Amino acid sequence: MLAVKQSIYVACGDPETAAALNKMLTGGGYACESFSDGRGVLAAIKAKLPDLLALDLVLPDASGIEVLKKARRIAPTLPVIMMAEMVSVTTAVAALKLGATDFLESPHDPGRVLVAARHALETTDMQRQLERLRDELQERYKMVGESAAMKRIWSLIRRVAPTPASVLITGESGVGKELVARAIHLQSPRAARPFIPLNCAAIPKELIESELFGHEKGSFTGAGTARVGKIQEADAGTLFLDEIGDLSLSAQAKLLRFLNDSEIQRVGGSTVIHMDARIVAATNKDLQELIKQNLYRDDFYHRLNVVTIEVPPLRERVVDIELLATFFLDHFCADYGRIVRFAPESWLALKEYAWPGNIRELRNLIERVVILAETNPVEAEELRSFLGAEAKVPTDGTLKVALERAERDAVERVMAQTQGNVAEAAAILGIVRPSLYRIITESMKYWTVLDVTLSILIPCHPERSEDSSASNASE
Ligand SMILES: Nc1ncnc2c1ncn2[C@@H]1O[C@H](COP(=O)(O)OP(=O)(O)O)[C@@H](O)[C@H]1O
Ligand SMILES: [Mg+2]
Repeated sequence: MLAVKQSIYVACGDPETAAALNKMLTGGGYACESFSDGRGVLAAIKAKLPDLLALDLVLPDASGIEVLKKARRIAPTLPVIMMAEMVSVTTAVAALKLGATDFLESPHDPGRVLVAARHALETTDMQRQLERLRDELQERYKMVGESAAMKRIWSLIRRVAPTPASVLITGESGVGKELVARAIHLQSPRAARPFIPLNCAAIPKELIESELFGHEKGSFTGAGTARVGKIQEADAGTLFLDEIGDLSLSAQAKLLRFLNDSEIQRVGGSTVIHMDARIVAATNKDLQELIKQNLYRDDFYHRLNVVTIEVPPLRERVVDIELLATFFLDHFCADYGRIVRFAPESWLALKEYAWPGNIRELRNLIERVVILAETNPVEAEELRSFLGAEAKVPTDGTLKVALERAERDAVERVMAQTQGNVAEAAAILGIVRPSLYRIITESMKYWTVLDVTLSILIPCHPERSEDSSASNASE
């Protein structure tokens, strides 16, 4: 690997010391340049920033503190190590206040300068990486929207986040429920602690309790070793229970006990453990309807539902469509190094579409368009071809759409449950494999590009298909 050397500027009035330092730092793998006075090094910094500055406290034309001040003005985040033969506490404090990384009292010991330089550079690297990761995370979980509905959601998040109250987030698939849950966590006093998501629909009923509460060794077949559950992982943080409508009645009862007295017992264990995980749950089901059918516990629902946040479907906040589309367009253009624009009629087509898959569908559409569009600015006709049949007829609310969505949901759930085993999934769903392949192929427009890529890997022509091929219909 060809690595670019990190550069260090050394400012030192004494030529002998300067030469020794230069030799040591160059030998340590750095590109080192020496300067004999303040003016020289400041001019060099202005011309080209080094990665580190090693600065003598006494220079022929200025004090090191003065030079440090000026260097800070040019480059506020440049790491600087100061060197001096004898330092008063006041001087050292002044230097540290000006953001010096380190203060070395022995410029005549180049070995120590090398160690300090290496340390300062590594620390700076790590800080930059952290900042980059934080920026990426913030970008990934940024919530865009200016509709009245979004403003109401923001205001609810702000009020509920600081409290320990349980929150139930409702809304169709893809409207942004998980983002709301993350926003609650990030604005809560628990922000520095873990946010643990658990999708209740993706875990077989027999395993959900062990997943939530953990289990002791040998508590059931397959429980070879003891394991902590998600509640414990989320201790002092937030546990996000997605698709809470799919939770079994018995798991609801146990979770209710935890919500009431913050205590859990592992599966197969008798010790009572105190846990402090905040519960935020989400569902796209009508839990009250499930309660009427005796499929859901009334008491659990009320304990969970201290605060409800309803996230409306995208078609009910049309003003957000353009904002979101612009946000995703910028994001994916940057990601894929493309410049893609939309023709005015295309913007219109986006606003007229019913978005049954909501923001997830919009995000996936924009990603696909950025990768695949042949017209630029993208014409409405091509855009509609990416949107599929729904775009041509405003189909929102028709029985056909409802049936298709139910079909898709069932397939997604079972595919997740069988971990992509098509033969098993078809058996559970009670359909033949060719029908399952057809539904998967048609659902593809609701998936992410990764899912689409995976689905391309499985043969979609049933005559030539293999049972062992795996796809991933879950998110
Ligand atoms: N307001 C929003 N701004 C930006 N992206 C959003 C917004 N709402 C949802 N998304 C994105 O849409 C996708 C689906 O959101 P998600 O929270 O997983 O939906 P749900 O949990 O309701 O199914 C995610 O990629 C998410 O980042
Ligand atoms: Mg979700």
